[in-house]
This record gives sequence, C-alpha cells and structure tokens, in this order.
Amino acid sequence: MTRIWFDELGRYVGEEVEVAGWVFNFRSSGKIHFIQLRDGTARVQAVCAKDDVADDVFARCDGLTMESSVRVVGVVREDARAPGGVELLVRDLALISAAREYPIQKKEHGVDFLLDRRHLWLRSPRQEAVLKVRATAERAISDFFDERGFVRVDAPILTPTSPEGTTTLFQTDYFGQTAFLSQSGQLYMEAAAAALGKVYCAGPTFRAEKSKTRRHVMEFWMFEPEVAFLDHEGNISLAENLVTAVVTAVLGRRRAELDVLKRDVAALERVKPPFPRVTYEEARGLLASKGYDLPWGGDLGGDEQTALAREYDTPFIVEKFPLEAKAFYMKRCEDDARLTYSIDVFAPEGYGEIIGGSCREDDLGKLLENVAAHGLPLEPLEWYLDLRRYGAVPTAGFGLGLGRTVMWICGLKHIREAIPFPRMLNRFYP
Ligand code: 4AD
Ligand code: MG
Repeated sequence: MTRIWFDELGRYVGEEVEVAGWVFNFRSSGKIHFIQLRDGTARVQAVCAKDDVADDVFARCDGLTMESSVRVVGVVREDARAPGGVELLVRDLALISAAREYPIQKKEHGVDFLLDRRHLWLRSPRQEAVLKVRATAERAISDFFDERGFVRVDAPILTPTSPEGTTTLFQTDYFGQTAFLSQSGQLYMEAAAAALGKVYCAGPTFRAEKSKTRRHVMEFWMFEPEVAFLDHEGNISLAENLVTAVVTAVLGRRRAELDVLKRDVAALERVKPPFPRVTYEEARGLLASKGYDLPWGGDLGGDEQTALAREYDTPFIVEKFPLEAKAFYMKRCEDDARLTYSIDVFAPEGYGEIIGGSCREDDLGKLLENVAAHGLPLEPLEWYLDLRRYGAVPTAGFGLGLGRTVMWICGLKHIREAIPFPRMLNRFYP
C-alpha cells in the first residue's frame, strides 16, 4: 500500500489507505478513541473503535500524546461534518515517535514564549495558514513577472554599497575589507535591465533598523522589478497590477486559509487597479488635519503610515516624495526639482507601505549631485555610475516587501507572524 497525503483522501472514499501524520488532539469515550491528525496538507479525524480493531491496536491508540507521529492504515469514510468531508476508520496504527509533553498548549501563550519556540509554533493552524498564503503570494509574484517576459536575475547578498542609506547597514568582515549585507538588489537590477530590458530579483534583504515596530524586521524578502524605458506612470501601473495579481491568486487558491485567519475577504475583493493616488504634499495636508505634523522632507514614519492608511479601504499610492526623504538614485520631477518620481504603495486598513520605488536618475551629472547631497562615498558606486556613462536610459522599478504584503493579506497584527523565522530587534533565535 502506498502512503497518501490527507488532501488526497477524498479520492479514496470506501477504500483502505495508509497515511502518516502528527497527533494534534486526542479524546476518548472509553470505547472509541478520536485521534485528530495533521500531515501539513490537511487535518483529519481518525476514529478507532474497540470493537473494530485488534486489542493491541486499540491499546496503542489510547492516550496518544500531542505531536506524536504515527502511521495509520484505515478506511476512508465520507462525513459531511468533517473539515475535509472525510474521516478515517482505523484498522491499524503504528507509533513512529511518541512526543513528550508538548510545550504549546491550546491556551493563550505570551508572544515571547511562542517566538522562543517558533520551530514548534509553525505547526499551529494559524501559522500553517500564513505559511501557505505566503508561498502562494511568492508564486503569484514570480508568475506575474515570468508571464510578462521579465528575466529573473539574482542579486548578491554581500555588497560594497548602501542603496538605502548608511544608517541601517549590517556589516561583516570580507577578508580584511568591509562588506555589507544587501539592503536592496536594485542597483544590480539596473545593471541587469540594461542587459535584459525587463528583470526582477527575489531574495533576502537586510536592514539594521533599530526600531521596534509591528512592521519592521531586520531580514525580509523583497521582490524587485526593474524596467528599461519605463516612466512614472508605467511604474505605478506595474505596481498596481502586481498587487492585484497577488491578492487575486490568494483569494482564488487560499480561501480555506483566509477562513482560518478570520480575514475579512471583502476587503481583499475590493483590490482593483487603478488605485487612488495622493501626492506627498497632499498626504502631509491630510496628516496635518489629523494632528500629525510631518516636517517637509521627512519620510512617513510608522504612526503617520498607520493614520494615513486608516483613511483608505483599498491599496493606494503616495507619490512624489522630496529627494531628502528618499534615496540618492531617485529622479527629480521636471516641474519641481525638490520632488522625485517616487512611489510608495500603501496597504489600507492601517497597514501602510508595502512597496517603495521610483524612476532612476539617468543623468550622470544630476546623479553625482544626488550622491553628494546624500553624503555618500563615491568609490563603491563607481560601477553604478558606469550605467550612466554607457547608454543610460530612463529606468524605473520598485521593491515589494513580502513580509509586509503577507501581513496585510492575512490581516495580521505584527509582521513577525508573516515570516517563518523572523529576525527582530534583539532576537535571532531560533
Ligand atoms: O522602500 P524601500 O526601502 O525601497 C527599496 O529598498 C528600493 N531600493 C526598492 C526598489 O526600488 N527596487 O523598501 C521596499 C519595501 C518596503 O516598501 C517594505 O515593504 C519593505 O521593502 N521593507 C521592509 N519590510 C520589513 N521590515 C523592514 N525593516 C523593511 N524595510 C523595507
Ligand atoms: Mg520605503
């Protein structure tokens, strides 16, 4: 008999099958044991009746501890009340490994207790649901770009540069030189876009953010498209279509998981391009009316993001930030040189920024001015300046933070649950 996964059981009604999994709950009436099992693909109840099995099998089932692993032979029975529409009548059961007393119980645990046991916490229904939504989102992003002819190009992790400023760098010794963990693959994607036209990278990025907020982690996955000849409007529309494609894929393939997470799916069903837009100046005005005094040139901080994002019930775009609020590579606006062709995509319901991007300054002279204005060293950027020396073209792109996106789609209170093993301020265990 070949072993099958729980999500295949529906195809075997009336047949005898072999499965394997972990016990997540056990109860017994004395004559019947009810063993709740999970195998990652689904959850199912195995019923072991004293009259139907050999005495030793009934005894082995008795008092199975939570998270013990078992192999079961049983008959699949249709049961409309069961989550997957089926349950399993046990014929035989073998213990693979008996679990000692499991630390995570059905009661409420403190978040530090759970984070210390993140390797076990992942087995809980909510965490399982989040991981599945995350995987579907990642797949949808790759599909989106691949279907549009983008070439995936991998950016390095050990780098000499700091695209997003020098204050959040993790540094490491590189045989006597200093290397930084990548904050963003963007600069490399600009080089790749000049070779391949439309490109994207996907990978971990690192920020030594000394802020302890619900949306900041030190290590997060980012998807970064970069497109030659793309302008501000084109960049906005690429971002809108990407966000919509991800949400549509999750709604289509992960309904059950969104149910487990008690996510209000109506909020996700509203996601359709074009998104409402507000300029930086307008956003400042809106915030001022709510009592937030954002000095001109400052980026939107956590509280401001929350306040602004509470005003919307669909994703929206904040555009045209001042250069000093953002990074050195951004292209200045033709009609107002204080501003840049930059975009942030904000998730609604108080979530805030999930995408940051811009048109890139393609003029060597202006780029050098920006580098000087940001006080950045030139030497590690020499290679990047070459891109302006040899056939510079207007180029635009953005970075979508996967953790923030999953946090919003799943309706989570904190980004830590959107990441399998989050790296947070003062925490990188387990
Ligand atoms: O806005 P950011 O800093 O933009 C860039 O890095 C650009 N170089 C991207 C590009 O144009 N190719 O970061 C992009 C996104 C943010 O919108 C957010 O979703 C996420 O990355 N992000 C973080 N997520 C979790 N924790 C942090 N500390 C994050 N910092 C940025
Ligand atoms: Mg940003």
